[in-house]
This record gives sequence, structure tokens and C-alpha cells, in this order.
Amino acid sequence: MSRTLAILKPDCTGRKLIGQVLARIESAGFKILATKMVRMTGETAGQFYAVHRERPFYGELVEFMSSGTAVPVVLEKENAVSAFRNLIGATDPAEADAGTIRRDFAESKQNNIVHGSDSDENAAIEISFFFSEKEIVENGRV
Ligand code: CMP
Repeated sequence: MSRTLAILKPDCTGRKLIGQVLARIESAGFKILATKMVRMTGETAGQFYAVHRERPFYGELVEFMSSGTAVPVVLEKENAVSAFRNLIGATDPAEADAGTIRRDFAESKQNNIVHGSDSDENAAIEISFFFSEKEIVENGRV
């Protein structure tokens, strides 16, 4: 079993698609280990996407990700990173395969409903960006 980080983006929450998107994720066999709702500042969104800071879309991406509520989710499955990227489809919904979450819900390359980590190493970094180990159900009891 391995983990990945999903973020339901502000377009997903704003369009009231949280339930539908989480249902698709669970139906695909992922276990939700942790989730929360956050409203990122520009600074937080900028840190999360720092790897993209030289890209022309960085400023707009930071503005978008800090424009409303986001829902980071820790997911578990075998080969979670690649399985989740297959489930969500390509960044550009026009290029995403039929049946993927982005193809079915996303409006544009930027407003593409959901983020997924791109490697096991980045998944670990991104999970710890939003969650302590105590907040992940296997480890923490309240
Ligand atoms: P995500 O998987 O969260 O990783 C980086 C994000 O940048 C991506 O999804 C999109 O929301 C956004 N992005 C990537 N490429 C472009 C682009 N060409 N134009 C606008 N936004 C983009």
C-alpha cells in the first residue's frame, strides 16, 4: 500500500462537487486516510506550488488556489500515485481520457478540479504540508 495527496480545488468546492468527486475516488478503491477543509493564503498556495514558480501560469495558479476552500485528502491504495493520476486524467480536461474525473468535471487546464501528487517522494512532502502523522487515521486517536 502507498499514499498520495489529492486536493479538491476551489472550483470543485465552489461548484459543490466535493461529494461527487470523493464518491468517484472511493468507488475506484482508494481509502481516505485523512481530510480537512482549508482556505489557503496566497503565501501558502505559493509555497505548495513553488516547483512551478518559473512557469507563466504560476501567479494565476496561486490566485486560483487561494480564491476559495480547498480539501486536501490523504489517499491509500496500491501504487496510489499512478492509480490516482489515471483516475483524474490529464491536466488539460480536453486531453483527459473518457471516464476520468477531469474529463467529466473540469473546465480548463487551471480549473481542473483536483490535484494529485506526481511521485511517491512528492506525495510524502505534500502530505506533510497539510497533515501531521497524528491526523492520519491509522496513527492518531482522539
Ligand atoms: P496540478 O496537478 O495541481 O499541478 C499544477 C497545476 O497548475 C495544474 O494542476 C493546473 O491547475 C495548473 N496548470 C498546469 N498547466 C497549466 C497551464 N498551461 N495553464 C494554466 N494552469 C496550468
